[in-house]
Amino acid sequence: MAIQWYPGHMHKAQKEIKQALPGVDLIIEVIDARIPYSSANPVIADLANNQGLSKPIIKLMNKTDLADPQVTQQWCKYLELQQGVKALPVTAHKPEQVKKVIGLCRKLAPHRVEKELSVRAMIMGIPNVGKSTIINLLSGRIIAKVGNEPAVTQRQQRIDLSEGVTLFDTPGILWPKIDNQNSSYRLAITGAIKDTALEYDDIAFYAMDYLSKNYSKHLLEKFKLDKLEEQTLDTLEAIGRIRGCLRTGGRIDLDKVCKILINEYRSASLGEISLETPEMIEKELIEVAELQRVKEEKKAARKNKIKKKKR
Ligand code: G4P
Repeated sequence: MAIQWYPGHMHKAQKEIKQALPGVDLIIEVIDARIPYSSANPVIADLANNQGLSKPIIKLMNKTDLADPQVTQQWCKYLELQQGVKALPVTAHKPEQVKKVIGLCRKLAPHRVEKELSVRAMIMGIPNVGKSTIINLLSGRIIAKVGNEPAVTQRQQRIDLSEGVTLFDTPGILWPKIDNQNSSYRLAITGAIKDTALEYDDIAFYAMDYLSKNYSKHLLEKFKLDKLEEQTLDTLEAIGRIRGCLRTGGRIDLDKVCKILINEYRSASLGEISLETPEMIEKELIEVAELQRVKEEKKAARKNKIKKKKR
């Protein structure tokens, strides 16, 4: 499953963010606690890794109510290994947790606080991580629409919070950048990528594979299964039989089973489940780098061949 990412979009977003950066003291990057790597902001990652971004970053890990608490703890430690990064796990269901970000902003910009100046924080996040919900909670009023298709903020929005912190909402939509195919699946499973862009079957098979290996107890309990089958398809069919997803002639309606699995995951009725761990990502990053290297090599070889032909 490929997800379109147009380099032009990233370039534009990067340019706008770069222009706005000198005017802020820090960045609040809202991410989904279930997929802290896959939901991270590609522009920020690029600025931090390749362009010497020197502003502190608060990784606001939202939706912890849906994530595995142990894995969230692992992520906090892992993310804070990066210089200038603070991780703050929160759920929008507990506004008092979200409000802690204000104190953290002030702590990270003491030079502004000492001068009694407002701390300026740029807030950003890929669609659906809960950025609008967080902005509304922090400001105590409805500023951003929640749950809609991603809204395009045309100009940078300035939101003054009463506690000496000003938020700058970034313009444009920051789509995720996906070099890692696993990330596309995880974004789709959580609903960050809308259903029109994907096949339910495809992502449900991926989800079932992962859940069987990592959260088998949750599956057994939820679907009242005696055991998980060796083949993913067989387990999905077993769920179909239990849930009465049958077509005429008694065949299993696999489409329906796949939808049930994904919807139960998204609504957390399967339990608190994270879709990636730091350890998994470390491995995947090596694989992605290797694929990239092979791709570059092939590209260079093709170019060489064309050059030779032209001579
Ligand atoms: P965005 O601006 O980053 O695109 O995200 P937005 O705030 O619109 O939130 C996307 C969805 O995530 C919304 O649900 C919102 O209610 C939900 N959400 C935000 N924070 C949390 C959280 O901490 N925990 C959980 N469980 N959900 C959260 P929706 O169903 O799309 O809209 P609605 O029905 O809530 O209006």
